[in-house]
Amino acid sequence: MAEKILEVSDLQVSYLSSRKTPFEKKKRIQVLKDVSFSMEKGEILGLVGESGSGKTTLARAILGMIPYEGTITKNAQRAQMVFQDPYGSLNPARKVSWILEEPLRLKGGLSKDERKEKVIAMLSRVGLDEKFMDRYPRQLSGGQRQRVCIAGALMLEPSLLIADEPVSALDVTIQAQILELFQKIHEEMGLSILFISHDLRVVYQMCDRILIMQHGQIMESGTVEEVYFHHKSEYTGKLLDAAGIEVD
Ligand SMILES: Nc1ncnc2c1ncn2[C@@H]1O[C@H](COP(=O)(O)OP(=O)(O)O)[C@@H](O)[C@H]1O
Ligand SMILES: [Mg+2]
Repeated sequence: MAEKILEVSDLQVSYLSSRKTPFEKKKRIQVLKDVSFSMEKGEILGLVGESGSGKTTLARAILGMIPYEGTITKNAQRAQMVFQDPYGSLNPARKVSWILEEPLRLKGGLSKDERKEKVIAMLSRVGLDEKFMDRYPRQLSGGQRQRVCIAGALMLEPSLLIADEPVSALDVTIQAQILELFQKIHEEMGLSILFISHDLRVVYQMCDRILIMQHGQIMESGTVEEVYFHHKSEYTGKLLDAAGIEVD
């Protein structure tokens, strides 16, 4: 049996609805219902579902950013997240070098020169030249920004990376380059990646196994082969149809 990096069982998350009038009672809305799955070390697990199905909520619960019921067991040194909007997640007032050094500074233990060396090595790993150190986020293209975000997430060498729709905001040609980058770092660093997307084509290309989510529940899970060619749930069939993927 392969080693597990993540085990989620009977996870429940609910939010309080906002009041529309002062007299209305706040209602509890359950967003994740009995979510259970596990993830093996070194795999790329896809999480697919329509907008609003609860994907980001699941990511936030795994990272401990929101309260939840149920159990989440992480066997990871460190878990980091890459977000959909690479602009919103970079400090606009700081240069790339500062942004990438920040996690190292907070962790401590390295000299200024050692930190700089690590930043240069990480930039090169994500396909950016040393000269990008002196740029501000606004001076970068969408693809370059997402490369910087990925570099930032990798600075402390996490063993689990959660990528939440990391290419959804990018043009198709740039998407392909960033997906290639994810594959490269997966191979080079032996990272486990939870890859969230609403795009079944992207997930098909990237992932070993897939979870299909609808209304906060896992409707189906399995290998790419099982989910695309032998799916059991009607909902998966509908998603494949909508994506124009021929499975017969
Ligand atoms: N902070 C919040 N407060 C209230 N409701 C929220 C909050 N965040 C998300 N939701 C609701 O939870 C549901 C799932 O959202 P989300 O996890 O962002 O879905 P996805 O990432 O699949 O698009 C949606 O109905 C959304 O409106
Ligand atoms: Mg989301």
